[in-house]
Amino acid sequence: MSLRTLALTALCICDPIAKVQAVQSLWANQKDIGLLTNEVIANDASLLLPGRPELPRLIPAQQVPTRTPFTPEGLAALMHAVCHIEFNAINLALDAVWRFPNMPESYYIDWLRVAYEESQHFEMLHAQLQSLGYRYGDFDAHDGMWHMCQKTADDVLARMALVPRTLEARGLDATPLIQTKLRKAATASALQAADLLDIILRDEVGHVAIGNHWYRWLCEQRGLEPVAFYRELAKHYEAPKLRPPFNKEARKRAGFTEAELDYLLSS
Ligand SMILES: [Fe+2]
Repeated sequence: MSLRTLALTALCICDPIAKVQAVQSLWANQKDIGLLTNEVIANDASLLLPGRPELPRLIPAQQVPTRTPFTPEGLAALMHAVCHIEFNAINLALDAVWRFPNMPESYYIDWLRVAYEESQHFEMLHAQLQSLGYRYGDFDAHDGMWHMCQKTADDVLARMALVPRTLEARGLDATPLIQTKLRKAATASALQAADLLDIILRDEVGHVAIGNHWYRWLCEQRGLEPVAFYRELAKHYEAPKLRPPFNKEARKRAGFTEAELDYLLSS
């Protein structure tokens, strides 16, 4: 089986620990597995993607209660929310690998690397959650991220524009705010969580940069102007409106241009 078919197999795995192991083994053995960039993998309608455990129960984002790190349960709920984001992020990266044929080899290796790093994030946060006496599935979680993945399933350009460099880029803005709260709570567990988020933020800059790189590459291939075309895509796919504060420094490191940051501030 090709690396891309195996990415789909990993995406279908429901158990988070087994999914993490499958991704890590794919990453470790990538050199021995054929990539087959031009393989069109059948989109089997019977496949219910992504594979996910029965719990957590998914609820609309608006119904998710606010979490405060100032109580032990609140801290656990907050860590669970970030764990859920990481679980989704593994799925989003695997989907980018299997779904879109005929991209350069480095595209697939980039997204496999993202899946691998997200699997490390999930493991790290899940260990922290377990140290607080909980596990993944113990709290309700929002159902938002996969929706945009489905909407952009037919076009890799729209996917790059709206998933990594829109939804995932929000993580760059949100993480420092969560860290400030955690450091204010100042319990040993909260401080440890804030430190874990430092590692995650560092890696996420790289993931958003990969999204930016491939978005621009695809725009160039199709003769499109990236800033103007992003506006069209955001409107067409009803992308969520992003609200300040924006982490301009991290966004710049992730490859957003001044023109793109101005667009965010003015839209
Ligand atoms: Fe992550």
